[in-house]
Formats: sequence, structure tokens, C-alpha cells
Amino acid sequence: MTDPHGTDLDAGRSGQFTIGGDLTVTRLGFGAMRITGPGIWGPPVNIEAARQTLRRLVELGVDFIDTADSYGPYVSEDLIAEVLKPYKGLTIATKGGLTRHGPNIWAPVGRPEYLRQCVLMSLRRLGLERIDLWQLHRVDAKVPQDEQFGAIAEMQREGLIRHVGLSEVSVETMKAAGRFFPVVSVQNRFNLVDRKSEDVLDYCEQQGIGFIPWAPLDGGALAREGSALTDIARDRGVGPGQVALAWMLRRSPVMLPIPGTGSPAHLEENVAAAALTLSDEEAAILDRQGAQASAKAGGR
Ligand SMILES: NC(=O)c1ccc[n+]([C@@H]2O[C@H](COP(=O)([O-])OP(=O)(O)OC[C@H]3O[C@@H](n4cnc5c(N)ncnc54)[C@H](OP(=O)(O)O)[C@@H]3O)[C@@H](O)[C@H]2O)c1
Repeated sequence: MTDPHGTDLDAGRSGQFTIGGDLTVTRLGFGAMRITGPGIWGPPVNIEAARQTLRRLVELGVDFIDTADSYGPYVSEDLIAEVLKPYKGLTIATKGGLTRHGPNIWAPVGRPEYLRQCVLMSLRRLGLERIDLWQLHRVDAKVPQDEQFGAIAEMQREGLIRHVGLSEVSVETMKAAGRFFPVVSVQNRFNLVDRKSEDVLDYCEQQGIGFIPWAPLDGGALAREGSALTDIARDRGVGPGQVALAWMLRRSPVMLPIPGTGSPAHLEENVAAAALTLSDEEAAILDRQGAQASAKAGGR
């Protein structure tokens, strides 16, 4: 795909992955948490840039968008519906189960009636009859796990949800949930310098489950000069964030990175990573440096 500026930007160069046996998406996706206000609360400071970002991602071949009812709350889902409905060729993955009481405050509520409200309201906001991938944002420690999983299984049986994913879970929790519904994806924090979910990633790879790393740019730190990636980025003439994303895509075929941004220019930089192939030597250096940084940060 050649864009109007004559550059070769195509998310499709990251390859494809089929979620749950029938939902094929381009591996490099988009995280829609950053099209909201500071603290992921309220509307974005530059709402026109957020709209442009959503329009641009379609032009760049991104077809997998991750959002949640709690982003804003509701702001992200509402903007996605406003700009992208009827979502031709797009997969919108959303999440529920977190309540918001102010900027940067997230409180899990996993009571079955609340989870049902989350799904019904996401359907209404997104203007959908069925959600392709609905993810439990957090398992609520105050509610028996089986009640949460049972409520989700029921909504899947009713056809409100096509596929179910989990977020911030262990392999043990994935197996427990798997007794209620097929777990088709897991969204855990993971990036070059945060490897604490390596075991979950390996399990996903064995089972053909999609692994959706959140904070693939470590919340933006890996896109800045001075990160562990600077030398390789300089040698290759690209930005450090692009090297971080290329490393993720290379790490596993089930890896579906969803870098988040509210800036069309940053989106373009991130999509350019789809075409960046690292050499074995570069990957080995990054692996070593990243694992050291992860261990230094307390085993993350
Ligand atoms: N499941 C969960 O619990 C959970 C938790 C957090 C996030 N998520 C999901 O994961 C997605 C990604 O995580 P994230 O957004 O927290 O972290 P991220 O993708 O690692 O980093 C996003 C941050 O980096 C900046 N950025 C992005 N591209 C850049 C570039 N090319 N150059 C410089 N800065 C850049 C963004 O700012 P600008 O907007 O200025 O570009 C933003 O502040 C979210 O959008 C959301 O969909 C899930």
C-alpha cells in the first residue's frame, strides 16, 4: 500500500493471525486507549487528531482495533463508532469489567449483572449486534471466578459475544476459564523490557491462542531516544519504537501488538515497523538487553 506521501506503509506486512479459528486479522493492530483525555478520562485534548488517527489506520491496512468501555469511559468506543461504523473489514475488540472513578483509577467489578451490562452497553455504543472479541478486562478477586466465567459463557451462548479473551491472567486462570468457554486471546502487559508474562506467551503459542501485548512501547518510553534500542535504531535509520515493535512481531507468530496513539504521525511510524525485519544478530542483542532491563526492573 503506497500512501499519498509516496511511502510504503502497510500494516499487512506484519502478517496475519486467525483468532478463534475464524477471525483473521493483521498482526499489527491499534490500541484505542490513547484517543481519550489525560488519565484515560474524558475526551482527548485534540479530538480532531484522534478522528484523523482512526481514519488513517484504515488507509494503512490496520484492521484490528482494541478498545474498552472504560476508556474515557465510553469516549473511545463512541469515537470508534462515529468514525469507523459500519467497520467494513475491521475487527473491533472491546473489554468490560473495570469501573472508573476518576483519572487513572480503575476498579474491577465482576458481578454477573455488571458484566452483562458492560456487553449490552458496548453493543449499543458500537452499534453492533455481536461483539467479535469481548475481553474480560480484569478478573475481579471479590467475585467467585466461576460466576464471572459462567456469565460470559452464557452471553456467548446467546450470541452477544463471538469470541472471548482475557486480560492480565496467569496460565492457571486461562485453564480455569477454558472450562467455561474457549479462551481465544490473552492481553497481558509485555514488551522488550517487561517480560513477566513470557510463560503465558509460550502457553498461547503452544495452544494457538492470540497474545495481545499491552504497552508494547512500554507506555511510550521505548519510542524515545535513549532507550535500549537507540543504537540499532540509529544503524537502521528508523525510530526506536519501530525496532521495539519489530522485535515483538518477531518474538512469536501469535503476537498481536496494539501500540496506542492519538497522533496520525505516530501511527504512521508504528505501522512502518511492520516492514522492518531484524537480523538474527540484532534480535539476539535486543533479547539480551531487554531481558536484563526487565530483570533489573524487578522481574518484570
Ligand atoms: N488490558 C489492559 O489492561 C490494558 C492496559 C493498558 C492498555 N491496554 C491496551 O493496549 C494499548 C497499548 O498500550 P498503551 O497505549 O498503554 O501503551 P503503548 O502502546 O506502549 O504506548 C502508548 C504511548 O506511547 C506514545 N506513542 C505511541 N506511538 C509513538 C511513537 N511512534 N512515537 C512516540 N510516542 C509514541 C503515545 O502517545 P501519543 O498518543 O502522543 O502518540 C502513548 O502515550 C492501549 O491503547 C490499549 O488498547 C490494555
